[in-house]
Amino acid sequence: MQQAERAAGALLPEYHRATPECPHPERWHMYDSMTAEAEVLEFLRTLVTTTKPELVVETGSFLGVSTLWIAEGLRANGRGKIISCEFDPVVYAKAKEKVAVSGLAEWIELRNESSLEMVVPGTIDLLFSDSDMPIREAEVKRFLPQLNPYGLVLLHDASSHLKTVREAAQRMEAEGLLSCVFLPTPRGLVVAQKRAGRY
Ligand SMILES: C[S@@+](CC[C@H](N)C(=O)[O-])C[C@H]1O[C@@H](n2cnc3c(N)ncnc32)[C@H](O)[C@@H]1O
Repeated sequence: MQQAERAAGALLPEYHRATPECPHPERWHMYDSMTAEAEVLEFLRTLVTTTKPELVVETGSFLGVSTLWIAEGLRANGRGKIISCEFDPVVYAKAKEKVAVSGLAEWIELRNESSLEMVVPGTIDLLFSDSDMPIREAEVKRFLPQLNPYGLVLLHDASSHLKTVREAAQRMEAEGLLSCVFLPTPRGLVVAQKRAGRY
């Protein structure tokens, strides 16, 4: 959080080390090392305007930056809602402040709770999993029954260096739960769809 405050919204070169799938991470940008890469934030907004989700669920709001980019997409669509959870009460309070002054609050429901306990109503069209790396598999499995079979699951931090999430995605693919595409971004982004229920 201090790093984000020091950077004060300035775009910096991406921090993640080079990987075989992304040998030039310095070509990407970031606001801080917790918030998703700037290019990934743009991708999130575009994915929302492209697929027009009614319900987006995000795990791990941090300071609410990715939440706001997704909400911008919802505002452009003129419909939908994002429910985003942040476990840490201090971080949640900061995110809440940011959302309050963003002009996007009507599209956002921010919750101070764990992704492993959060209950959301109805069908999820887009799940952005960006909380604590070791629990990503559990949270995706938890929300999978509610996922629209034509919807999308995004798992951030799935680079070959940050092995935990990549291996979780590979396992869920091997179990027949997800079909995954591993985007070669600095920190890695899996774009997936659940296998059950697809035509
Ligand atoms: C990588 S940051 C999220 C970055 C944010 N999505 C963005 O791109 O702007 C991960 C956040 O998840 C939170 N977190 C960790 N475990 C969690 C859980 N079980 N439920 C909800 N949030 C959690 C952490 O406190 C941290 O703020």
